[in-house]
Amino acid sequence: MENIEWKKFLIPYEHAVEELKVKFKSIRNELRTIGEYSPIEFVTGRVKKVSSILEKAKKLNVNSEEISEQIEDIAGIRIMCQFVEDIYTVVDYIRDRDGEDLEIVLEKDYITHFKDSGYRSYHVVIKYPIHTALGPKNILAEIQIRTLAMNFWAIIEHSLKYKYKQQIPNHIEDRLKKASDAAFKLDQEMSEIRHEIRQAQKFFEVRSNIVSSILQSVQTLYLSGRIKEANEFQERFNRLWEKGDTMELKILHKEINKLTQKYEPCE
Ligand code: GTP
Ligand code: MG
Repeated sequence: MENIEWKKFLIPYEHAVEELKVKFKSIRNELRTIGEYSPIEFVTGRVKKVSSILEKAKKLNVNSEEISEQIEDIAGIRIMCQFVEDIYTVVDYIRDRDGEDLEIVLEKDYITHFKDSGYRSYHVVIKYPIHTALGPKNILAEIQIRTLAMNFWAIIEHSLKYKYKQQIPNHIEDRLKKASDAAFKLDQEMSEIRHEIRQAQKFFEVRSNIVSSILQSVQTLYLSGRIKEANEFQERFNRLWEKGDTMELKILHKEINKLTQKYEPCE
C-alpha cells in the first residue's frame, strides 16, 4: 500500500481509539464526580504503527487484503486498574455493552492463565462500529485490562524485547520471570488490604472535595464584593488547614455554603 493509502486505512482506527478512550475515561470521571470508587485508574490508547502492522502481517502470513480481519490490535486500548478485582468489574462493563455500542469477539484471560513470559492481563477483542465519511464500517479493536503492577512489568518487558530484538538473553528472561512473580505477589498483597486502602482513599477524596468547595466559595464571596467575609473565611480556613482537622473543615464548609448560596452570581 502507498503511504497515502495507509493514512486512509488507519483513519477509522484512529477514530475508534479516540472514541473508546473517551468512553472509558468518562466512566471514571462520572464515578469520581459522584464520589464513588472507580475501578478504572487510567486509560491509554494507540493505533499500531504501519511498520508493526507489516511485521505482524508477515509473521502471521496475512496478505494485505486480510489485514483488517486478521490483525485485531490495530486499534488498541489499555485500561489500568488498582486491584485485580477491578479488572473483572471493567470486563463486566464491557460485557454489559455487548450488542449495544460494541460486540465482543473474544476474551483472553492471561490472568488466571498467564503467559510463559510472565505476562498477565485480560484481553477483550471487540468489533466496533465507526461512521466514516463513506458510511458505516466495523473494525476490530483490542482492549487490554490490567493492574498497575501488570502494566509496569509489561512495559519494561516490552522495552527489553525491543532492545534485544525479541532475543532476550536467558539470565534476563529469568529475572523477568522473577519480577513477574513479584508483581503477582504485590497484586495479591494489595488485594488483601484493598478495603483499608479504599477507605483511606475515600477519606482523602472527601477532604479534598471539601477543601476545593470552600476555596471556590471564598472566591464567590470576593467576586460578589463581600471582601471582609471572604478574608475572614480564608483566615479560618488557613488555621484549620494547618491543624488538619476534617470535622472542623466540614463545619466551615456548611457555614460558607449557607452564605454563598445567597450570593451566587446571576447566570
Ligand atoms: P501478538 O502477541 O501481538 O503477536 O498477538 P497475539 O495474537 O499472540 O495476541 P496476544 O493476546 O497473545 O497478544 C496481544 C498483545 O498483548 C500484544 O500485542 C502485547 O501488547 C500484549 N502481550 C502479549 N504477550 C505479551 C508479553 O509476553 N509481553 C508483553 N509485554 N506484552 C504482551
Ligand atoms: Mg502473542
